[in-house]
Amino acid sequence: MEKNFYITTPIYYPSQKLHIGHAYCTTIADTVARYKRLTGHEVFFLTGSDEHGQKLQRAAQAHNQSPLEYIDPIVDSFKELWRRLDISYDDFIRTSEPRHQKVVQDFFERLQKNGDIYKGTYSGLYCTPCESYWLERDLDENGCCPDCHRPVEKVSEEAYFFRMSNYADRILQYIETHPDFVVPTSRRNEMINFIKQGLEDLCVSRTTFDWGIPVPNDPKHVIYVWFDAVINYITPLIGNPERMKKFWPADIHLVGKEIVRFHSIIWPCMLMAAGLPLPKQIYGHGWLVIDNEKMSKSKGNVVDPMLLIDEFGADAIRYFLLREITLGQDGSFSRDALINRINADLANDLGNLLHRTLNMIGKFQKGIVNAPRGESPIDQSLKSDARSTVENYINLMDAMELSAAIKNVWQFVSRSNKYIDETAPWKLAKDASQAQALSNVLYNLVESLRIIAVMISPLMPSTAQKIFEQLNLEPIEQLKINSIKEFGAFPRAHAVNKPQQLFPRIVVD
Ligand code: MSP
Repeated sequence: MEKNFYITTPIYYPSQKLHIGHAYCTTIADTVARYKRLTGHEVFFLTGSDEHGQKLQRAAQAHNQSPLEYIDPIVDSFKELWRRLDISYDDFIRTSEPRHQKVVQDFFERLQKNGDIYKGTYSGLYCTPCESYWLERDLDENGCCPDCHRPVEKVSEEAYFFRMSNYADRILQYIETHPDFVVPTSRRNEMINFIKQGLEDLCVSRTTFDWGIPVPNDPKHVIYVWFDAVINYITPLIGNPERMKKFWPADIHLVGKEIVRFHSIIWPCMLMAAGLPLPKQIYGHGWLVIDNEKMSKSKGNVVDPMLLIDEFGADAIRYFLLREITLGQDGSFSRDALINRINADLANDLGNLLHRTLNMIGKFQKGIVNAPRGESPIDQSLKSDARSTVENYINLMDAMELSAAIKNVWQFVSRSNKYIDETAPWKLAKDASQAQALSNVLYNLVESLRIIAVMISPLMPSTAQKIFEQLNLEPIEQLKINSIKEFGAFPRAHAVNKPQQLFPRIVVD
């Protein structure tokens, strides 16, 4: 059977440099995409930039630049960050691209023809930083935007509306009857409550600025930026029936919790109106917080991912983000916690396992891994732990329990280190009658390392590759999960390389 998998991140606003909170979302998506490739799926992984709207137009004006003069270098900085963070996206949508503009205009016209978009007058409240419309009842206790808590503006203008109220019953019923559509459950309940308060028609055009996609045949209106933005998810597919068939509906729209509403209510209503199938899942992840506050530019508490990558390397950051934070919940970021993880889990547990193993093979067997023969009860228990670790890993990754999946791999890393202590190869090496037992232990260790490297490859692609290089194995990229389901595939009479440090210990003053 053909296995296809389509995952998206939100498209980011190029009004700012990205911080480690944005990198968090993209790292999750990348790890899932790489895991799906490992399990034999044909994957399409989409990310991009959300370039329209008044906020960006104002920012460009403040810099005496045209919107694109202002935005282009910022988008370049996104792409550079994704390159440095080893993000393996398949396409990058800029909403300012002509290919996207056409899809949005076609979509708009389709809904107009169905009678689902009509012209009226909008008077209401608008949060420019969030590009969101709000009702009086949504505002916070100070009468400000409930998301960013900044003032909202009263606006009144002729505008186009999307007849979202027509779809309220259908979307409510859909969410209620599809428990996996909005996850985690806390977000799903929030959405159900939100819809039960009543869904009004959505204003989908503006006339007070012009940096946006023009409404077809009425260019003094530009299309509301959120209406424009969510359509990016079908932009790379819709003109290509074969791709559309393969990848739509999307398997997962991965988004931060504050934008679940746009993805699980507005976007599905738009799709229903267009007669297109709904995405299979909207996954709302939590925020990276510092001292219990969301990391964001407006709060002035952002951590620059580029500086962290310069200092610690991409894989250490990726490991920290996915291991430390349970998907769906908020998680704190701190430098101390990052350094602790690097020292304890990466330099110590994983780094030492590789180093000790290759060192012993160099010293006791001239760098050659011999064929194993027979097994002791300790060997048997290691092999059975390897098998159950792979099984748990697959189940947890399939269930998007990434942190638990990684923890399970690290338990096996510790288990393998313990195996060295239990079997004491340095003692076996002193007794010629134990030569085969010694070969067995060293074989089991490199085989365990091979299995560990494959399991961590979606999370830490370059570390996995470095382990493969030190084991002198073919590059990891083409490998599939089946290659680690059985213990014992490591080549026999095989020369390995000298150990090299994977992660230096970070010395803290
Ligand atoms: N442009 C919209 C998304 C449109 S999708 C059709 C947008 N952009 S954003 O740049 O403001 O945010 C993009 C994503 O980054 C959101 O999912 C948001 O939750 C996430 N994050 C922003 N700050 C974050 C943290 N501090 N922690 C985790 N994720 C964070 O919204």
